Amino acid sequence: MADASADRRPESVTAEGEADLAGVDLAGAGLRLDVDGAVATVTLNRPERRNALTFATWRGLAAIGRSLPSDVRVVVLRGEGPSFSAGIDLALFSNAGLSGDGEGFADGSDAEATDRFIAELQEGYTWLRRADIVTIAAVHGHAIGGGFQLALACDIRVVADDVKFCMKEPALGLVPDLTGTKPLVEIVGVPRALELCLTARTVQAEEAARLGLAETVVPREGLDAAVSDLVTALLAVNPGAAAATKRLLWQAPENTLEQQCAAERHEQIGRLRELFAR
Ligand code: CAA
Repeated sequence: MADASADRRPESVTAEGEADLAGVDLAGAGLRLDVDGAVATVTLNRPERRNALTFATWRGLAAIGRSLPSDVRVVVLRGEGPSFSAGIDLALFSNAGLSGDGEGFADGSDAEATDRFIAELQEGYTWLRRADIVTIAAVHGHAIGGGFQLALACDIRVVADDVKFCMKEPALGLVPDLTGTKPLVEIVGVPRALELCLTARTVQAEEAARLGLAETVVPREGLDAAVSDLVTALLAVNPGAAAATKRLLWQAPENTLEQQCAAERHEQIGRLRELFAR
């Protein structure tokens, strides 16, 4: 059931962006994109299927990432209806084509082709860590499997008090392969990540906040307002400083102290040059 506004082209998508979105049926992929100046809102928009994700959804997300106008600084990812996302569309497992693209699961017999295929789907997630944007997952209701990984792919998670995170892939005989294992471990550590993944248990709001899976927990009816306040605060920061700081923070866990000090100096030189060139 597609929203009538679902395939509306945001006014500020650039010519290059238009080219990247050309031929992409966002509405058919269960997505809606709204761009308002420096803020892009991506809505998972198949509420009647609890925003279950298809191959088309993942490709659509990747296309949105490629097409973002250069003046977009904050991306909000949200879900329509009762849940953020129920994860992969289970119809894909039976090759029943509910995804609308007639594709079923690759059986892995051709390892190289399957590797390329999964890498293409992962592109729907990886752009959310780009330094030139800050990404916010506004999560309510269920965020399961690929939906949980989508929330993990964002920089910041603002969640409603009805949130239910679950990494269900191992319970289905699979591994989480949509970029989620790295942020999950970064946030909760290996032992807790193991426990969560291998029991596929549900994490609710209070525990999510305690584990760091949610930066903020708000009442369900306050989610949009909380996200809006955060967007306003993020936009108040100098864009160059925001991008440089994001680069620094994301590389910090991998760097030695020496490397990180050098990275701080490097970024600060860029900042000083820009500030004093004015
Ligand atoms: N795929 C396809 N359809 C789904 C779906 C999914 N993942 N989740 C829900 N739906 C459909 C239901 O079949 C139902 O359709 P009908 O109205 O035609 O019966 C509709 O959405 C509403 O669902 P429910 O009535 O079940 O809604 P609920 O609010 O009572 O429960 C739910 C919501 C807990 C999310 C439940 O629907 C559910 O458990 N869904 C399956 C979740 C799941 O196992 N996802 C796979 C995760 S693993 C993963 O994502 C792997 C990966 O990336 C590789």
